[in-house]
Amino acid sequence: MLRGSIVKSRSFLLLLIISLFVFMLSGCGADNQTSVTPTPEPSTPPTPTPTPEPSPETSDSGSNKPKGPVYEPIGSSLAEAYADYFLIGTIYTPNTLVDPERSLVIEQFNCITPENIMKPESMQPSEGYFAFTLPDAMLKFAEENNIKVIGHTLVWHQQSGRFLGQTSDREKAIEQLRNHITNVVGNYKGRIMAWDVVNEAVKDGAPLPADGDWTKCLRETQWLRSIGPDYIEMAFRFAHEADPDAKLYYNDYNMNDEDKAKVVHAMVKDLRAKGVPIHGIGMQGHYDTNVSIESVEKSIKMFSELGVEVSITELDISVNDASVSKSLTEEQEVRQAIVYAKLFKLFKQYKDNIVRVTFWGTIDSKSWRRDKFPCLFRNDYTPKEAYYAILDPEKYLAEHGVAEE
Ligand code: G3I
Repeated sequence: MLRGSIVKSRSFLLLLIISLFVFMLSGCGADNQTSVTPTPEPSTPPTPTPTPEPSPETSDSGSNKPKGPVYEPIGSSLAEAYADYFLIGTIYTPNTLVDPERSLVIEQFNCITPENIMKPESMQPSEGYFAFTLPDAMLKFAEENNIKVIGHTLVWHQQSGRFLGQTSDREKAIEQLRNHITNVVGNYKGRIMAWDVVNEAVKDGAPLPADGDWTKCLRETQWLRSIGPDYIEMAFRFAHEADPDAKLYYNDYNMNDEDKAKVVHAMVKDLRAKGVPIHGIGMQGHYDTNVSIESVEKSIKMFSELGVEVSITELDISVNDASVSKSLTEEQEVRQAIVYAKLFKLFKQYKDNIVRVTFWGTIDSKSWRRDKFPCLFRNDYTPKEAYYAILDPEKYLAEHGVAEE
């Protein structure tokens, strides 16, 4: 009897355990169709950011001053010195957002051109995907510091990715051109002062033919192959549609070469006669210390006569006999400075036509021509002779006995 009731209560207990187990498995009686929201894992509390300890790498005799070059304000500003003439620009890289670049740019310049971040392959790294983050940061920096921005560049044979214009289907290429320009220019409508719409489209060493047909002098590019010479006017029209207030430029190097200048002159004249919205010519200005100032003047004059703006868009002057393993001698620095002074004296004379002079770099070691020391600042961020030569070119030339040249 007793044994029988023990067996019964054991079976009851077993049944109870099984039911409880089944109940738990079924989600505590909840409807099986409803998904159960998992309880979030307890999150680790955020680690407080430690105050940086002075370390041998980041401190200087125990202070928190970063080691490495520092830009010491000069107390004079190129932008201010030329306020009555034209804008003074330099390149922008993401590094411009941090010191010492940041302080240098803010004190000296009132205009920036992105060195690489707005080139076609950077703006559209894969077809249909536009990367605005880096340019957005640049625009924010510029707007906070009252600095104008130039868009560089929309149509180029370099740094343009593997798909733009890489098709034999003309209609597809036109669509790519339109799509790229519309998205990039449209995204920054009203915020970019001028665009280098087409960059370096003219061949080197191809004089204008007797019939004046400049299209025969165009560089063999993906756009010329896929669309034909009219890609140039299309690019300007698409850009104008996307931002009717932006100034639109044709930009090229060796523009003081007479042959090239004549081709560009013919092209711009022809396009303007057809109503193509092209407002300016960019003379890049990658010169060296042997540059003929006269040749530069000839081109500025020739382009100005077209009634378009002229800007010096990528100025740097290489020191021909510089040796990469040594720093410049005093003689080399002065020689370079004299060329800069002569150029700026000339630019001032054309202030009614020149809107902007932009340097292609700040310190020598970051320049694309670093082996030729072409910039205004040494690698320790101190100003070179060239800086002072530009600040007051007439005075500098007089002091160096070249005032009458
Ligand atoms: O971004 C890549 C990086 O991912 C890679 O690790 C690195 C390794 O080499 O290369 C990086 O790309 C480099 C890019 O600059 C960004 O730093 C390219 O190799 C390099 O060729 C590129 O050079 C730029 C050059 O245009 C391209 O042709 C120069 O910085 C830039 O100053 C120069 O600027 C041009 C103007 O746009 C147009 N006029 C001529 C002027 C001088 O060439």
